[in-house]
Amino acid sequence: MEYKRSVLFTILAFIVVLVNCNGPYNRQGSLPKPCPLCNTNRRPGPGSPGTQSCCDSSQGVELVVQGGRDVYYRPNMQDPKHAVRGTTDPSKPGRCCHGAVRDYLKTDQFENMFSKRNSLEVEAHAKGFWDYQSFITASAHYQPYGFGTTYMNRTFFGTKEVAAFLAHAATKTSCENKVATNMEKLEWGLCYNKEKNSNSNYCDEHYKKSYPCAPGVAYYGRGALPIYWNYNYGEAGKDLKVDLLNHPEYIEQNSTLAFQVAIWRWMTPIKKHQPSAHDVFIGYWTPTKNDTLAKRVSGFGATMNVLYGDLVCGQGDNESMKNFISHYLYYLGIMGVDQEEAKSPEVLTCADQVAFNPSFFSNP
Ligand SMILES: *[C@@H]1O[C@H](CO)[C@@H](O)[C@H](O)[C@H]1NC(C)=O
Ligand SMILES: *[C@@H]1O[C@H](CO)[C@@H](O)[C@H](O)[C@H]1NC(C)=O
Ligand SMILES: *[C@@H]1O[C@H](CO)[C@@H](O)[C@H](O)[C@H]1NC(C)=O
Ligand SMILES: *[C@@H]1O[C@H](CO)[C@@H](O)[C@H](O)[C@H]1NC(C)=O
Repeated sequence: MEYKRSVLFTILAFIVVLVNCNGPYNRQGSLPKPCPLCNTNRRPGPGSPGTQSCCDSSQGVELVVQGGRDVYYRPNMQDPKHAVRGTTDPSKPGRCCHGAVRDYLKTDQFENMFSKRNSLEVEAHAKGFWDYQSFITASAHYQPYGFGTTYMNRTFFGTKEVAAFLAHAATKTSCENKVATNMEKLEWGLCYNKEKNSNSNYCDEHYKKSYPCAPGVAYYGRGALPIYWNYNYGEAGKDLKVDLLNHPEYIEQNSTLAFQVAIWRWMTPIKKHQPSAHDVFIGYWTPTKNDTLAKRVSGFGATMNVLYGDLVCGQGDNESMKNFISHYLYYLGIMGVDQEEAKSPEVLTCADQVAFNPSFFSNP
């Protein structure tokens, strides 16, 4: 007991040192200053009277003020068992005060973005499957980790991040090949919820110890941002506490799960020591010398690099790349975000970027 407490204290002390308001990489100073954003958004917290809490989502942490003292908590996504969850209500880890996704993405916008998904014009691949509420429920799960809730240098990335994420999802699940004009193409996202023609079971025997393939099932692409391979089903299942290794079909049956798995892919690095799509989008990532040489900079372009590598990036004006970008700009418009600001080519495209991972590592 005593030992546990001291471990907890050490973890907590470490977190407090890490956290301050000047940015994720500034680790100087022993005590955090109160974040300006938190000061303006403090509200009564749970538990004893006088407790206040708010979320500094630029850090992915929650600030709780108890007995006049500030305590920061950081949920740990890589290691959920040891997450230090700073609330007295464990069912609501790391609540955020700066707007949940549902506060800025409304039903009519979602319907507008995916207006043809239940259309009779094409065969109904996933008719009636995808809906607004599933996305909201799924995104709520990842909001404490900054999905759609991140501030960085006081810039709110939430709206843009959701547009970017949905652009990837839409492009990957589109029935656009059935239609003619470029503008119409943008309305066909979320037409599928699984890979069309799969003749592989995507079982990688290298991982048979940690993620043994279940008999009679196949790990082909499923979800809003499809995941492939036993090890990805295994990892995602572990994080979401759903037995996806034995039941990959759950993703085809449950649209909340299908969005959760997609957001998992967005939030989780493809390989250790690499940034996730979320990290590169919001700039929670310090490019190394190699990254700079490879022309990798934070932005929408880098999310394509993380997710698809040289299948899409570093190929000049590739059609697939342009398709992701048009969806992104279209959704920014629907969400009322100024597109001019997002349009700067070095952050928008990955035409000149060298891939994070070479393409033998395809279908992440
Ligand atoms: C669908 O998935 C969500 C998220 O994993 C879960 O909470 C819910 O219970 C599932 N619904 C059904 C009907 O299994
Ligand atoms: C935030 O500000 C710091 C210091 O001015 C700067 O180095 C960093 O690049 C900025 N981050 C983003 C995401 O703009
Ligand atoms: C940087 O790139 C060089 C050449 O490709 C490679 O040998 C080196 O390991 C890379 N360094 C890091 C830190 O990735
Ligand atoms: C570029 O985009 C097309 C889709 O039009 C795709 O088939 C092709 O593989 C992509 N990549 C390269 C390297 O051309």
